[in-house]
Amino acid sequence: MEIAFSPIRPDADTLVFAVPKGGFDALPLAAAPTLAAGASAARFAGEAGSSFESFAEEGGKVLRAVLIGTGSGSDTDFEKAGAALTARLSNSGATHAAVEFFGPATGEQAAHLALGALLRGWRIDTYRTRQPEKAKPTLAKITLVSADGAAAWEAQSAVASGVALTRELVSEPANILYPESFVERCRHLEQLGVKITVLDKAAMAELGMGALLGVAQGSVREPRLLAMEWDGTGGAQQKPVVFVGKGVTFDTGGISIKPAAGMEDMKWDMGGAGAVAGAMKALAGRKAKARVVGICGLVENMPDGNAQRPGDIVTSMSGQTIEVLNTDAEGRLVLCDVITWAQKTYAPEVIVDLATLTGAMIVSLGSEYAGIFSNDDGLADDLMTAGKAAGEQLWRFPLSDAYNKLIDSPIADMKNVGPRFAGSITAAQFIKRFVDEGVKWAHLDIAGMVWADKPGATWDKGATGYGVRLLDRFVADRFEG
Ligand code: BES
Ligand code: MN
Ligand code: ZN
Repeated sequence: MEIAFSPIRPDADTLVFAVPKGGFDALPLAAAPTLAAGASAARFAGEAGSSFESFAEEGGKVLRAVLIGTGSGSDTDFEKAGAALTARLSNSGATHAAVEFFGPATGEQAAHLALGALLRGWRIDTYRTRQPEKAKPTLAKITLVSADGAAAWEAQSAVASGVALTRELVSEPANILYPESFVERCRHLEQLGVKITVLDKAAMAELGMGALLGVAQGSVREPRLLAMEWDGTGGAQQKPVVFVGKGVTFDTGGISIKPAAGMEDMKWDMGGAGAVAGAMKALAGRKAKARVVGICGLVENMPDGNAQRPGDIVTSMSGQTIEVLNTDAEGRLVLCDVITWAQKTYAPEVIVDLATLTGAMIVSLGSEYAGIFSNDDGLADDLMTAGKAAGEQLWRFPLSDAYNKLIDSPIADMKNVGPRFAGSITAAQFIKRFVDEGVKWAHLDIAGMVWADKPGATWDKGATGYGVRLLDRFVADRFEG
């Protein structure tokens, strides 16, 4: 879909009016009275994401006319309005929509509307070979009537590309997307100035990443560690912020195998890594003035003659030993070695990890908030603030010695699972044991956020792209501000 900006209304087959909550009575249209009456009869009142569709005779032509609500005017409300536009028009037969703002809208707000429209229109049609004509999208272009939206759009369109990459990675099935092919799908970031480093299995063995490799050993797919570096400060920011993503390209549970029902969901157990890759694309795409490294731990968790067994003891890169009581608690085993490597390689000031780590997180928060765990209040607050602004909300959970004790092992330094309760917290405590003194760290358990069963604010059902906008906003506010 093409997004354009124009100071005047272009020739288009569909007229869209973005209207705030409350009133609208002087639409710049000949047919305004009819439209206004229709909208009020249909109880349209400009709420964010609501819409009203009709037809209007303008200059001798009958045009489709759509009202979309921009609510109270926040960035996320403008995104919802854009999303309502594509949800309604994408397959409607409309090809070119011109959006006019009723009530003042800044260029920034116009760009957010365009972002919402583009995000809601994202789809993956790679595997549809018999799609009926009527099911194919028709809407090819949206022109926003805004004098100064184009500049703001440059940054937002980079964010949209980042979200699209995440959704693509999350949507692809595990026979197509595995550690090596994940890396190949991120290669194009080099063209944006991102430096890419890849560790293969031999390199990781050399470094002693026994925890990550233990997970990978049951799969014929070789693991990879993918590091993506972006420095938009010309060397001024010494210590980078590091994002770490869990990239389990398929999680069968291993020998502690999962039940068959719903196991297909585990193709998106790389959603943390997907968000990290998408965030790097967004940051590099908009030339963010910050030094950021995104690192993905990529493995497939399979049961096999060579798979690790419950009770196996592995030695992590940090030297700490782990009794693997449940091979399905594999995400933390991957993250711990990636975090150790990140600290040794980049000496970061801040680490934020993202992972579809526990089913217990979905029990706690459903799909409205992701969980955040942190050793630093300032960092946690900054992430929660960014999440709120970006429409990707976080809710903070506790960490404490009492929880930490629950993963002590009678035979090794720790075990990889605690008792039945507080499963998301003991998982976070496990990761915390690998974070060096002085490093500000936050862990985001995004298990409930990566995949949606029903359409949401700016996504259809399927991959949401959760995390990209949160991380982008966090970098903008904390490091570029
Ligand atoms: N990838 C899963 C967590 C998950 C489950 C994410 C459902 C999204 C939807 C993770 O690797 C896992 O299996 N966790 C176990 C941990 C348990 C064995 C302590 C879980 O949550 O059941
Ligand atoms: Mn698992
Ligand atoms: Zn998993």
